[in-house]
Amino acid sequence: MSRFAYVNGQYLPHRSASVHVEDRGYQFSDGVYEVIATVRGRLVDEEAHLDRLDRSLAALQMRWPMSRTALRAVLREFIRRNRLTGFGAVYLQITRGVAPRNHAFPKGVDPVLVMTAKSLPPFDMTAARRGVRVITLHDDRWRRPDIKSVSLLPNVLAKQRAIEAGAFEAWLVDDRGLITEGTASNAWIVTGAGELLTHSADRAILNGITRCAVLELAAAHGVRFVERAFGVEEAKTASEAFLTSTTSWVKPVVRIDDALVGEGRIGPVSERLLAYYADRVAAIGAAGAGGLG
Ligand code: PDD
Repeated sequence: MSRFAYVNGQYLPHRSASVHVEDRGYQFSDGVYEVIATVRGRLVDEEAHLDRLDRSLAALQMRWPMSRTALRAVLREFIRRNRLTGFGAVYLQITRGVAPRNHAFPKGVDPVLVMTAKSLPPFDMTAARRGVRVITLHDDRWRRPDIKSVSLLPNVLAKQRAIEAGAFEAWLVDDRGLITEGTASNAWIVTGAGELLTHSADRAILNGITRCAVLELAAAHGVRFVERAFGVEEAKTASEAFLTSTTSWVKPVVRIDDALVGEGRIGPVSERLLAYYADRVAAIGAAGAGGLG
């Protein structure tokens, strides 16, 4: 099946799409991004993603490459061209533009918008329920991980260490011993008292769109939660743990470093939240049935 990339106004064959060597994203990580899931041609939480994109752009003093309305239209055309009819994901990146290398912002340069898309296999609930292991590593990132910038080197290095340790993800630990989040996901636990915890959405974490959706679902279904940081020991002795992200949904964490979490399998709160989230995605897909909305 032919895949298309979008590069500054053009839909190009994915294999030959490229950007200029002096793109500031390439040289300085001077850009922001979003990853948006799709289900049956519908974008999951499009407005929340575009709101976060707006905040990231503002934080970098960058402007939108086109109006939000135009971007919505381009996203739809992009999904259509890539035939994302089942599950999929769109990666969207905006960099400050192309200019001779110089740290200061270039003048009179237009931002560069790039998009790629991929089809994903149907979400595997059985595999998801099995859960994963995470390792804990020092959070070596800059002090603004709340901005979804393409500057992801510490995330890349930590994720690689997790993979090499046979784990799915690394949970990052700040100087006070508190877990902030994963390299590409948010971190959650359920305490012995049955309280759901996740780090508050301050400057120390990226406020995940999935995180927000899960908090809404918890509130709607009477699951008690508190947005506060928790330490490594608190996590290891929790009765449940899980992570959330656009592509992982709600993924149980059954082992942290060498400690089993709870009974080492998905717990009841994670089970419920995963089911609520799956229903929510199914409802978004059903709204798109019969055509690419
Ligand atoms: N990662 N925290 C970090 C550091 C992330 O990179 C992500 C997402 C999340 C979860 O956010 P959301 O629920 O909006 O996906 C939390 C994306 C998927 C990525 O980099 O591929």
